[in-house]
Amino acid sequence: MASEDNKKLERYLIENFEWFHRHPELPYEEVQTTAKIRGMLTEAGIEILPYLLETGLVAVVRGQKNGGRTIALRCDIDALPITEEADIPYRSEETGKMHACGHDFHITAGIGAAILLQEHREDLCGTVKFIFQPAEEESHGALKILETDVMDDVECIWGFHADPTNAVGVIGIREGYVTAAVDRFVIRVKGTGCHGAHPDDGIDPILTSAAIVQGLQSIVSRSVNAFHPSLLSVTRIQAGTTWNVIPAEAELEGTVRTMDRKDRLLYERRVREIAMQTASAYGAEAEVTWVAGPPATYNNGEMAQVCDKTAKELGMETVPEESSMGGDDFAYYEDKDTMQRDIPGCYVKIGIGVGHPIHHPAFCVDESAILPAAKYLAQLLTIEKRYDANMSR
Ligand code: NI
Repeated sequence: MASEDNKKLERYLIENFEWFHRHPELPYEEVQTTAKIRGMLTEAGIEILPYLLETGLVAVVRGQKNGGRTIALRCDIDALPITEEADIPYRSEETGKMHACGHDFHITAGIGAAILLQEHREDLCGTVKFIFQPAEEESHGALKILETDVMDDVECIWGFHADPTNAVGVIGIREGYVTAAVDRFVIRVKGTGCHGAHPDDGIDPILTSAAIVQGLQSIVSRSVNAFHPSLLSVTRIQAGTTWNVIPAEAELEGTVRTMDRKDRLLYERRVREIAMQTASAYGAEAEVTWVAGPPATYNNGEMAQVCDKTAKELGMETVPEESSMGGDDFAYYEDKDTMQRDIPGCYVKIGIGVGHPIHHPAFCVDESAILPAAKYLAQLLTIEKRYDANMSR
């Protein structure tokens, strides 16, 4: 691509990035966002698959060279319920809503990559699907996309995230687990209320809850293999209304993060056992609700190597990506239990300039990161030309 064309594309992407930034929409409300993405892709002559999605869409670029497989790129498009504090001229125009996770960058870089591939489709073999996914922040927007048949012919999937811990032009890559499985639990402890001065008349759900919280923290140290990363956080305890009454009930809520599939099952079993049996030891009862979220994201080793090679080809720097106890519903697309087959995936971090962390009210993307990201993704998606190994887990 000539440098004049590059400049033109860069200006176009930055201008639209600012539009997305000014108009953030919360999960499942991405109506204007979807319309804007549709408009930009249509203008570039890119095909949009006729799925009946309320928000989000899937576009496709079909290579004109023979052979090649069908692959996909996931770009998430939703914003967060945060009031923006970033000092930029294109601040959010929606009070209490903000693109504080860089999904506006994901949209724009993804569209840029699609435009570059569409322009060079005579050199492309295989088909590339661009999944503009709603509601990543709710952890299940991916499942909306997976209600369609979009993944039926997809053989591998790429994902990426804006990374404010790295400079523009730096790509973070890791083989193996990169984000954790995200589960949530609620424990209802039922005792018997009584006067605070006569605890012997009742069964104290607060003391019982305290013992449960202590017990739950033994899972990571006593039940899980010390070489397997995992954690449990109790994040909410609610009970009682006043100082001199022991309440009848207490409620605890929290989250469990694991990488290994078996650890996930182990945690669920141990949380139930500890809650119910501890309650029983105190004469109370406990009821456990377990809400499973997305599984852990696992980066296929060979795909991670391609990420590295691609960055080097473009003169970009690569650094080892830290794995995170945070989650991303990208994991569903490559999860064997969800998909009922092996779909290798890889999720990279793209440097957007060092600044405030994601979900921070002053989070900000350096706009000079957009074009390099689009070019990097486009190069990654032309993978077929130089990579056809048998990918496996
Ligand atoms: Ni995000």
